[in-house]
Amino acid sequence: MTTSTLSPSRPSRPALAPLLPVVGADTVVPLATGGRATYVNLDNAASAPALAVVAARVAQVLPHYASVHRGAGYLSRVSTALFEQARAQVAGFLGARGDDLVVFTRSTTDALDLLARAVPDGARVLVADVEHHANLLSWQRSARTTVVRGGSDAEETASLLEAELATGRYALLAVAGASNVTGEVLPLRRLARAAHAAGARIAVDGAQLLPHRRVSLAADDPADDLDWIALSGHKLYAPFGAGALVGRRDWLDAAEPYLAGGGATLDVSHDAVRWADGPDRHEAGSPNVVGAVALAQACATLAALPTAALESHEAALRDRLVEGLGALEGVEVVRPHPADAVGVVTFTVPGRPVSEVAAYLSAEHGIGVRDGRFCAHRFADSLGLVEGGLRASTGVGTSSDDVDRLVAAVGRFLTTGPELQYGVVDGHWGPLTDARPAPETFLGPVPEPR
Ligand SMILES: Cc1ncc(COP(=O)(O)O)c(C=O)c1O
Repeated sequence: MTTSTLSPSRPSRPALAPLLPVVGADTVVPLATGGRATYVNLDNAASAPALAVVAARVAQVLPHYASVHRGAGYLSRVSTALFEQARAQVAGFLGARGDDLVVFTRSTTDALDLLARAVPDGARVLVADVEHHANLLSWQRSARTTVVRGGSDAEETASLLEAELATGRYALLAVAGASNVTGEVLPLRRLARAAHAAGARIAVDGAQLLPHRRVSLAADDPADDLDWIALSGHKLYAPFGAGALVGRRDWLDAAEPYLAGGGATLDVSHDAVRWADGPDRHEAGSPNVVGAVALAQACATLAALPTAALESHEAALRDRLVEGLGALEGVEVVRPHPADAVGVVTFTVPGRPVSEVAAYLSAEHGIGVRDGRFCAHRFADSLGLVEGGLRASTGVGTSSDDVDRLVAAVGRFLTTGPELQYGVVDGHWGPLTDARPAPETFLGPVPEPR
């Protein structure tokens, strides 16, 4: 097999194996140059592969899948039990308080939108402009929202938010636990304390934090509690269409049901509807049992890792990435050394379009990264990434070899240059000549119905 085997950039550093097996770790992809390479997934921040154990759990559950909540059949009862068990597992993973709700949603975007609609009338919401659009636009759309400018680092952003909270005007602070652009981690307990002292609550966008860190809603001191966390299964190694909003029930019980439909009602008459409360209120329609079970399995698996295993695995990968990329003349790493950060590293190759570099990494090396402004346009612009950046993000399935292959490939781009010529083809950057089969044919024909 012809592969893009470039020599590791940091042979002196100890090799690091993946922390957990993920599905597709050995997938081989075609290269535009004619060879093939084992795919390097450095786009975990966008969507992470399924944990092998999650896929196994889904396979175990599928033969027993049936209608949930309303069916009398035995398998309906099994499915209902699996769904409610998943709810309890997610609650446990997030250190939920006894009275907290776990509402299954499609994703973090969905969960934050639900919470935004539950903000009491007239209540004010505070966010910073460093947020992903999921934690910015829903607040702007449905609540009275103030957007403050972020600082030069997470510490300064936290101080700016604290100062604004101290005005006492807010009912809610909405923050990302970790940035999807720089990986910076916000001091959540400190912000929780500041919010509560000012009479506000705190909602955490956990999309980027939870795949990397254990977080508990309940803290040792209730003043430091987090009020809500939103999360996405597909970023947490459970890509089966479920996410969740977990936290305080009062606003959710008082809000209009997120969707109007079956399952969210207690009784419907000609002239009135009595809505359920609790999670049912916001889970109208047939719930995503398989997605919830997958998410719960991922939570249980991450929770069972030895203390600090996740943190040290990714700290080592992040350091390796920052050091390797930073050592390349012609590469600029954005905020390379935050006080605390997850494995999300954004860089640029000044003078070269980010989409050209991303297309080259894919076409000549089988490496998947993200380019653009990462659905955080205001933050990206303030970081000088008006033309976008390249983002490499690690996960539990990432090895040091993956990082080394990226660093070596970027190094080759800068020294010998790409083998192929690149331009905009059909609206996207790509090689002008491409030996790869069209992506829609890669898996071969759709299986015949039997
Ligand atoms: C920080 C952050 N918040 C929210 C989201 C939205 O997540 P989803 O697309 O799963 O709704 C993302 C997605 O990239 C994110 O990075």
